[in-house]
Parts: sequence; structure tokens; C-alpha cells
Amino acid sequence: MILKIVKFPDPVLSRPAEPVTEFDDDLRRLITNMFETTYAEQGVGLAAPQVGVSKRLVTIDLSVGKVPEDRLVLINPEIIWSEGRVYLEEGCLSFPDIREKVVRAAKVRVRAQDEHGKWFEMDGENLLARCFQHEIDHVDGMVFLFRMSALKRDLNQRKIRKMQRAGEW
Ligand code: NI
Repeated sequence: MILKIVKFPDPVLSRPAEPVTEFDDDLRRLITNMFETTYAEQGVGLAAPQVGVSKRLVTIDLSVGKVPEDRLVLINPEIIWSEGRVYLEEGCLSFPDIREKVVRAAKVRVRAQDEHGKWFEMDGENLLARCFQHEIDHVDGMVFLFRMSALKRDLNQRKIRKMQRAGEW
């Protein structure tokens, strides 16, 4: 089932999400729906708050549904190590039509639980590292608008307000 994506400035996006404690069928259904929603939007990652669910759950698939092994589910994730800095453009499904350069660590190590509650660690670099950081920000109540320079943030906030007034947001 394709879920409705919540757009900025919905308050669910600015609130730290609740830890996942139940690894049940409801959770697995939500995960399946989050992947379906991401593919429908041609995205690579999604965090549960973006579908209005304030839980610490992230789904990532850099292949956009083409390679089943690329499906990553991160539950209660945290970044436990990072290295380097990269300044690159990124986007967010909660900010349609906005792409902006943001500084991220070049490499990160993530600790998370899988859909059965088992803890694991995983390293990522390049796009995967960026995706980990962007999506984990979401479960912490942080959106990429607030990772931009003050100038770019103001410009984009103005653009959003303009689109809202025009009924395009
Ligand atoms: Ni996002």
C-alpha cells in the first residue's frame, strides 16, 4: 500500500521519534508499505515520520527496487562512528522540488536492529553514508533544511511559502 508522504512543516517531522519496541506483523507491514511508497516516489530512503508515524524506523534501497538485496531496514538506528566531510546536493521526499548542497560525513558506521529485533552494525560510504545520515536525522526530528547554510535555508523557506500560497505544496 502506498502511504501519503508528509511534507514540511508538518510537526511530526520536527519531533524526535519514539523507539520501536514491538517487532510484530504491524511493523513488518509498515516496512513493506514504506518500501512501496519509496519506489512509487522514485526515492532511495524514507523514515517513518515521513509517513506520519513517529517511530525510529528507516528504509533504504539505493537500487530503487531493482536489487532485492539492497533493501535495508534500520530500526532504532544510531551513528556510532563517522569520518570525513562531503558537501553534495541532496533532496527529500518531504521537500518536493528542493535540492540543495549539505555537508555530511563521508563514511559512517550505523548500529541498528533489523525487523526481527536483532542488532547489527553496518558501514556506509558515498551515497549510502549520506542516506544513513539524512534518514537518521529524520528519526531525530531533524530535516535537511536545517543542515543548509542560513542563506540557502532562507531562500528555500521563501520558495516553500510561495509554493504553499500557490497551492503547489
Ligand atoms: Ni528526507
